[in-house]
Amino acid sequence: MNIWNGRSIWNARDDHLSINQWATRIDEILEAPDGGEIIYNVDPDDTREYDAIFVGGGAAGRFGSAYLRAMGGRQLIIDRWPFLGGSCPHNACVPHHLFSDCAAELMLARTFSGQYWFPDMTGKRVGIKEIVDLFRAGRNGPHGIMNFQSKEQLNLEYILNCPSNVIDNHTVEAAGKVFKAKNLVLAVGAEPGRLDVPGIDAKGVYDHASLVETLDYEPGDTVVVVGGSKTAVEYGCFFNATGRRTVMLVRTTPLKLIKDRETRKYVLDRMTEQGMEFVEGANVTRIEEDGEGRVKAVVANTPNGEVRIETDFVFLGLGEEPRSAELAKTLGLKLGPKGEVLVNENLQTNVPNVYAVGDLIGGPMEMFKARKSGVYAARNIMGEKIAYTPRDFPDFLHTHYEVSFLGMGEEEARAAGHQVITIKMPPDNENGLNVALPASDRTMMYAFAKPHMSGFQKIVIDANTRKVIGAHHVGYGAKDAFQYLNVLIKDGLTIDQLGDMDELFLNPTHFIQLSRLRAGAKNLVNL
Ligand SMILES: Cc1cc2nc3c(=O)[nH]c(=O)nc-3n(C[C@H](O)[C@H](O)[C@H](O)COP(=O)(O)OP(=O)(O)OC[C@H]3O[C@@H](n4cnc5c(N)ncnc54)[C@H](O)[C@@H]3O)c2cc1C
Ligand SMILES: NC(=O)c1ccc[n+]([C@@H]2O[C@H](COP(=O)([O-])OP(=O)(O)OC[C@H]3O[C@@H](n4cnc5c(N)ncnc54)[C@H](OP(=O)(O)O)[C@@H]3O)[C@@H](O)[C@H]2O)c1
Repeated sequence: MNIWNGRSIWNARDDHLSINQWATRIDEILEAPDGGEIIYNVDPDDTREYDAIFVGGGAAGRFGSAYLRAMGGRQLIIDRWPFLGGSCPHNACVPHHLFSDCAAELMLARTFSGQYWFPDMTGKRVGIKEIVDLFRAGRNGPHGIMNFQSKEQLNLEYILNCPSNVIDNHTVEAAGKVFKAKNLVLAVGAEPGRLDVPGIDAKGVYDHASLVETLDYEPGDTVVVVGGSKTAVEYGCFFNATGRRTVMLVRTTPLKLIKDRETRKYVLDRMTEQGMEFVEGANVTRIEEDGEGRVKAVVANTPNGEVRIETDFVFLGLGEEPRSAELAKTLGLKLGPKGEVLVNENLQTNVPNVYAVGDLIGGPMEMFKARKSGVYAARNIMGEKIAYTPRDFPDFLHTHYEVSFLGMGEEEARAAGHQVITIKMPPDNENGLNVALPASDRTMMYAFAKPHMSGFQKIVIDANTRKVIGAHHVGYGAKDAFQYLNVLIKDGLTIDQLGDMDELFLNPTHFIQLSRLRAGAKNLVNL
């Protein structure tokens, strides 16, 4: 057995673990007090120089590696965690989806509390820690799959649970060995933004990463969330749904990223209806601690004066900061204003043979961008001259609902000079919410018993060109369709083509049949 820096190196090359064996092994490593063994999966029989070393094996590094390998190249991933896949399955997207699922389920249960088959939820508080523990107990399943798939099916080489020491643009040291490559691909991701206020290090202040690693008590009856974008709102809705008073301290206004006014209003109205409190223009000035270093209260300046909220649990959803400082210093990388590594459309940094991908290069910090930027870097390395700049992509977030959006909002489209008509359900969002539409899977109970809660959907159309230029949906199950709809819209989808599609009724988006009702008209008007 090899030892490096007092830690053993497991030569995993000739071991062929099953997914479950991987999951157990990763668990053991994560629990090991000394940091656990280094996982060394390097092919001793391949004598080719590496085409690329990927520093970081998250979404960006792993997908880039897989593509490069598939194209016949040789790659090596070095990651400080004992699993591939990065933050998404470990502390970001996957727990967020679990919490958002809980929020949706709990809203249903609370809405129909004591009716039909629903239990009486009066005064019922659900354990936040219980759900966090559920996640922690299950997360090594996805980790196990990724290590297994990457080794046994994708034939990737990797060294995991090992810090990387980048020496220059062709050289990285790991586990006491020096590796040379034609290129480096930097894929080390980003980390949660921090607040610089007194008391920030008190026990009971969490971000999405520390929440799943260190929550060791059940929060009390009030939660304070700082931030007003995706992370803050998604976690805030979950905390609210568990039965706690949830106060959102938002520096400007919440959910600015939802551009369509009516859609945003519907989303905010439903959160407020669930009891969430939004304080806009709030600047946190300090966090007060009790005698044992635990959070006692949060104090903020607001347009209405100072507010002080007593709580033992604060959640920060303040955006992500690219993990660029150290690499920039070593390699002389140029950074943008938010610390993001600047790259050209081929994902090349200013340093020859050094590429950067994923969250490290700034927004949009989403999985599609992480994975695709990794792949496009690999394709460039393998000789294709191919450009990638993320633009015109679909987007989504969770509240207690799933909110999907793409293209332009109504106001934005008008401002851009389009002759706008809209098709929406319910047709009158201001006064007509109490009709049993829209209705579909997961919203049927609302549609019939609480119609105003059954969702909102809208497409924005240019009446002159008849092209669809925006789509917005609050409900469940539409996110998937938005991935494909976005491609069609970029290709110039018209109301006539949309109306000629075949719907799977009752469909989460009612866009097809509503378009069909209008498509016969030469002069389009709202529906
Ligand atoms: C709360 C939250 C929820 C999210 N939910 C979604 C969602 O639902 N859908 C979506 O599309 N996106 C979501 N995102 C965004 C998504 O998680 C990121 O865009 C994506 O994970 C970025 O991938 P990456 O490979 O760039 O970085 P990461 O996945 O973070 O990978 C970076 C890797 O680099 C490694 N590393 C770091 N430093 C070193 C070093 N010095 N040496 C070696 N290795 C190193 C890390 O261990 C890690 O494995 C969410 C983000 C957050 C914060
Ligand atoms: N697809 C998904 O479902 C999903 C989920 C979560 C995260 N993500 C991705 O992960 C990244 C991070 O998400 P995010 O929602 O945390 O970040 P974000 O969209 O960058 O928003 C940051 C939020 O933090 C606030 N903020 C920043 N610094 C602050 C400070 N010093 N004091 C007070 N408030 C401050 C901002 O307030 P103001 O705007 O008011 O200034 C904003 O509300 C994003 O790129 C996001 O797309 C994706």
